Amino acid sequence: MFSRRNCRPKEAPMHVMAINGSPRKERSSTSHILGPLLEGMRAGGATTEVVHLGQVQIKPCLGCFLCWVKTPGKCVQQDDMATVLERFVQADILIFGTPLYHYAMSGLLKNFIDRTLPIHEPWMVEDPHHPGRSTHPDRYPKDRAALLVSPCGFPEFNHFAPLVHYFQFYIQKLGWRYLGEILRPAGNSLSGEQYQEMFTWYYDLVRQAGEQLIRQGQISPEVQAGLRRDLFPGGVETFRDEANRHWAETMAKFGVTAKPPGQRG
Ligand SMILES: Cc1cc2nc3c(=O)[nH]c(=O)nc-3n(C[C@H](O)[C@H](O)[C@H](O)COP(=O)(O)O)c2cc1C
Repeated sequence: MFSRRNCRPKEAPMHVMAINGSPRKERSSTSHILGPLLEGMRAGGATTEVVHLGQVQIKPCLGCFLCWVKTPGKCVQQDDMATVLERFVQADILIFGTPLYHYAMSGLLKNFIDRTLPIHEPWMVEDPHHPGRSTHPDRYPKDRAALLVSPCGFPEFNHFAPLVHYFQFYIQKLGWRYLGEILRPAGNSLSGEQYQEMFTWYYDLVRQAGEQLIRQGQISPEVQAGLRRDLFPGGVETFRDEANRHWAETMAKFGVTAKPPGQRG
């Protein structure tokens, strides 16, 4: 049995592609979330792959539109994007992973998204999902869904507001199903080796979220609530003090002496 839009046998396993937009690649906090998430998805029956954008060569979009007019569907630049894009359009679920950089996605991920221009056709048509609004048709129509994964340094969730707004808008413009977000404030520590044991509860929840996304198409409210629990006890002020201590100690290793405002003599 084939679905009309994607010509994929209905019983074929879902294929998930995760894009890691952290320049820290496998060592990143983003990757520490993607790992158990994809593990859970595989447990749910999906096949998975990760592209660490820091490991591939993807040049910035030239803005020339030749991918629309001269070589439809293909960028004129010779780099790794053609191979990645071929796999990207075949995935059923796309995971956009990015550290929060200045309240937005990383430059690596934005650069990647810019280079997806060839998957759109140039025509301006009425958006079938949002009557009255304009869009470009998908060159490779298929039922797709997307999830946002992002750690950040600050301990509050509200820092993610602009990033979430962007992805909600972007994914609905693409006409894909938006699966939501796994956001991790105070997430920098996820990449610290000394914390791995302390965070096993969190990774277990991420794994459950992955399995639920494949089996049920969504993350249960219980798991979502668990994923929003603080990684560290003591609240925001304690977290700030610890973070400041960490930065002072790290600077001291480089022979730099400095104190946060309020603690200067
Ligand atoms: C250039 C840059 C900008 C950043 N901007 C923010 C920010 O706006 N808000 C925040 O909470 N953390 C910010 N951070 C911290 C990172 O989001 C945080 O360290 C994250 O855990 C890194 O994830 P990664 O290991 O996956 O790269 C920034 C870090 C860098 C290097």
